[in-house]
Amino acid sequence: MTITDEVRSEGDRVVIFDTTLRDGEQCPGATMTFEEKLDVAAFLDQMGVDIIEAGFPIASPGDFEAVSEIARRSKNSVIAGLARANPGDIDRAGEAVRHAKRGRIHTFISTSPVHMKFKLQKEPEQVLQLVTDSVARARNLVDDVEWSAEDGTRTEFDFLCRCVEAAIRSGAGTINIPDTVGYTTPDEYRDLFIRLREAVPNSDQAVFSVHCHNDLGMAVANSLAGVTGGCRQIECTVNGIGERAGNAALEEIVMAIETRRDVLPYHTGIDTKMLTRASKMVSSATSFPVQFNKAIVGRNAFAHESGIHQDGMLKHTQTYEIMTPESVGVQKTSLVMGKHSGRNAFRSKLKELGYDLGDNAFEDAFNRFKALADRKKHVFDEDIEALVDEKLANAAD
Ligand code: KIV
Ligand code: ZN
Repeated sequence: MTITDEVRSEGDRVVIFDTTLRDGEQCPGATMTFEEKLDVAAFLDQMGVDIIEAGFPIASPGDFEAVSEIARRSKNSVIAGLARANPGDIDRAGEAVRHAKRGRIHTFISTSPVHMKFKLQKEPEQVLQLVTDSVARARNLVDDVEWSAEDGTRTEFDFLCRCVEAAIRSGAGTINIPDTVGYTTPDEYRDLFIRLREAVPNSDQAVFSVHCHNDLGMAVANSLAGVTGGCRQIECTVNGIGERAGNAALEEIVMAIETRRDVLPYHTGIDTKMLTRASKMVSSATSFPVQFNKAIVGRNAFAHESGIHQDGMLKHTQTYEIMTPESVGVQKTSLVMGKHSGRNAFRSKLKELGYDLGDNAFEDAFNRFKALADRKKHVFDEDIEALVDEKLANAAD
């Protein structure tokens, strides 16, 4: 039984297809070494990623080796290799995933007018024939074949339906409609899947998949809209790395589903407590920093500085946090001491540092802390200790 059969029999299960090692690595400057790829893949496997797209085997001998070795070592995840619609690519991908417990060939071709005319320089009928030929060839090598319509969201609808129908007829179990250039909007993408699944006669024989790029900053929203339109596979990358503005971020998708189950009644198999470590691992392997305010895994995602927010957080954590830091593998919320911090947060910080000051001493320490915070960008615990200790020492003299 392929993962596609499993998903089709379980209505609210969404499969996570991670392409950090393929589309993610395609972003300028994000190249990873062979060992780094193996480590990332092992971690994703352990984290519960259903399908790991390990690379593009025809691209280089190194890519082929990495996909083959990841396939050999995979424990639970399906391992996918990417292939264009030609025999050389498909055979090489088949060879690379051959040793996986469960291997997938992911083959694709462009279907939009602009790509067919200028990039492929082919007529639509030729492209349609290649869809049939490439999927059939891949299906002779493995049980699990995914077909993607590159630039699917800018493809003429009737032609897209014909390609999808042909791909399913030739044996594709997963149909992916990428928003290759990050052009679509949530409503439009959802409607596209609803219409496609209605119009294609054999659509119930496949799992539909989203693959969104972030050129307009809507990759995650579009991916989730695709799921509400009937898709049950989401293609994404850790930290959202990928071509140009990147791909949909895995951690954001997973936590949106976890946190808003009331409006997104689905589930994934991801161990969310591993998300922060995954982010750090990919950031260090690629040398791509994670922006401080990045949702879920950014340094500030669970940090509060304003007095009003810190006061709220001390009274009840749900005032300003919609998920717990522990749920994504962060030890605890941090109340960052700065010029915006108020008395309540300062008192709590003193308690944490082991001080119990009387009213006058507290007021004095608080005023000096505010003066310091105006001069200094970061007030560390050591600064606060120094400020209180100095006063206590003077009082003792
Ligand atoms: O963005 C895209 O269209 C792709 C395909 C190769 C799936 O990455
Ligand atoms: Zn892509």
